[in-house]
Amino acid sequence: MSTILSTNTAAYLELEEKYGAHNYHPLPVVLEKGEGVFLWDIDGKRYYDFLSGYSAVNQGHCHPRIIAALTEQSKKLTLTSRAFHNNLLGEYERFITQYFGYDKVLPMNTGVEGGETAIKLARRWAYTKKNVAENKAKIVFAEGNFWGRTLAAISSSTDPSSYKGFGPYMPGFEVVPYNDLIALERSLQDPDVAAFMVEPIQGEAGVVIPDDGYLKSVRELCTEYDVLLIADEIQTGLARTGKMLACDHENVRPDILILGKALSGGVLPVSAVLADDEVMLNIQPGEHGSTYGGNPLACAVAITALTVLKEEKMAENAERMGELLRSELHQLQSPLITTIRGKGLLNAIVIKQTNPDTAWDICLSLMENGLLAKPTQGDKIRFAPPLLINKEQIMECVEIIAKALLIYPNP
Ligand SMILES: Cc1ncc(COP(=O)(O)O)c(C=O)c1O
Repeated sequence: MSTILSTNTAAYLELEEKYGAHNYHPLPVVLEKGEGVFLWDIDGKRYYDFLSGYSAVNQGHCHPRIIAALTEQSKKLTLTSRAFHNNLLGEYERFITQYFGYDKVLPMNTGVEGGETAIKLARRWAYTKKNVAENKAKIVFAEGNFWGRTLAAISSSTDPSSYKGFGPYMPGFEVVPYNDLIALERSLQDPDVAAFMVEPIQGEAGVVIPDDGYLKSVRELCTEYDVLLIADEIQTGLARTGKMLACDHENVRPDILILGKALSGGVLPVSAVLADDEVMLNIQPGEHGSTYGGNPLACAVAITALTVLKEEKMAENAERMGELLRSELHQLQSPLITTIRGKGLLNAIVIKQTNPDTAWDICLSLMENGLLAKPTQGDKIRFAPPLLINKEQIMECVEIIAKALLIYPNP
């Protein structure tokens, strides 16, 4: 399916094509404004945002309280580096550790840095506390994982478009099938295993939800074999799935918790790794860090972003609106949709691919009808709007989806 682009849009696309690396394949829409659940393009057309910046914008675009925290702090002090103290770091550290119930936090910026940090902490813990021989520590991951684009992250990836052509890869990584406790237990029996790093729901893999009880059993296995459980809640966390953390659905407490994305409500990169002293205190001054990590601007924004989530009851709304969205999608009974799945407002539909571009074409049609969503893994479309979406808006979005599906009337 081809889309007719406005002259304005075409000019912006051309600029990016000519001067930018070709490392993304975005929908042909050029956005210039966002508010709450909506985005506007350069021609003034309004869209529902059903991606929310890959769940970074849980609190909605340009949330007034988060923007106020950003602008106020940006007039005062933005960056000191960690060479000096700043007056917000300690306050933020106390706030976030009490919020999630951990002894300590290590602040970073992007999600992938959070992952790298968690792995370094786990390796160091294994050498200091588990008596693993130097350079022998192993980290186990789940097949289909996605935690970013650094060399370590792609070394654990099972998706060739992430890792192919970028070797050699990081040693000491092992992959087991997701949602397979038998395979996991076999791996954890190796005394050199330091940690199992897992997403409670695999986001980029297409919102893959493990069986009920999986996470709880993972927790039990990790405890039994003295292996750290690292939960990557960068996409699933912060009210997205209807609880503050996706681990909360099974009352599981990871040893290391990684947060990112919505920790800043989408206004700047802020990530955090939380753990207790037993893990965190194995790292000494000079052994890990980042120039921007824990900067005062990030601290002010993150405190507000977390406050907003709780005060505006976003987890509760995500739970209710997610149920409504899935039940309305089921009622469409579209032969194009083979599966509807999700938790809270992290949802995906699986498309019957009548040709390799079916899901992409549906996204173009959604765009034309005023809703932005993006295919993942070819045939899945994620539906993850900001968490303040209301009932009327969900109903309007379902109408848009029904209309958009008409481009393939007889799949
Ligand atoms: C589960 C998960 N972990 C880590 C990351 C990496 O985050 P970032 O892109 O901020 O580095 C992502 C990004 O999509 C993610 O979905």
